[in-house]
Amino acid sequence: MTMIKKSAALFFFLTAFWAGLHLLLREKGRASKPAIIAHRGAAGLAPENTLAAIRVGLAHQAPYIEIDVQRSADGMLVVIHDETIDRTSNGRGPVRELSWAELRRLDAGSYFDPHFAGETIPTLSDVLLLLQDKPATLVIEIKDPHFYPDISQQILALLAQHQMQERVVVISFDHAALETFHRLAPGIPIGLAVTKPWPIPPIAPGQTVDVFWPGVLLDPTFVYRMHRRGYTVWVWTVNAPALMRLLAWLGVDGLTTDHPQRASRL
Ligand code: G3P
Ligand code: CA
Repeated sequence: MTMIKKSAALFFFLTAFWAGLHLLLREKGRASKPAIIAHRGAAGLAPENTLAAIRVGLAHQAPYIEIDVQRSADGMLVVIHDETIDRTSNGRGPVRELSWAELRRLDAGSYFDPHFAGETIPTLSDVLLLLQDKPATLVIEIKDPHFYPDISQQILALLAQHQMQERVVVISFDHAALETFHRLAPGIPIGLAVTKPWPIPPIAPGQTVDVFWPGVLLDPTFVYRMHRRGYTVWVWTVNAPALMRLLAWLGVDGLTTDHPQRASRL
């Protein structure tokens, strides 16, 4: 056998093994209806992390609305993904070095579409107020917690003030920050966001692992393993309907998407 034939045979064998494992381990019972998590409000349809985007997510009946939280120089919890305002507003600079008075003046809509001119960076409080009488659960991602000492305590105080403790899931890529949050408020569900399917540091059983979707395709054991550890599995950020269908078929419990209307239609 030539080298090329040997390589082709090995490739075929590995692919068949990988596909076989997927078939064997897919979580059939849970595959029918993953929850929809509208990413950054509904970032494909409106400027991310604005009240306009959240309203769009709600209009498409997303049961979960995800947002990102950072903090201003004077301690206001604000809803914005990046540590700087450069990409999603008409200003420049790190969020943590700008006051709330400076942040609230920015246009956070025009960069997306002139139709959204004048849309502003909301506070976490604004979002909690908006969701107060809505059926959705708010997914709060704590961004860059190393910049913001005691942000967990601050989020908790705000949730208590708005009586929204039972209407949120708190997620983060930062395992230590998430552990701190869980220690302070063990009754509030948490989710560990990860980019790779391994290693997954332990979190309390019953909580969520939120993985970048290629990990689920790459590792046929992932959903099976996480379910055996007692975790719910969400994937981010899935926008193609065919991929949504495939991941649902593989048994994920939640699909984070910029286009909740596509997921609802499936
Ligand atoms: O659910 C995790 C998801 O929000 C991915 O992270 O970077 O879009 O905030 P990011
Ligand atoms: Ca996020």
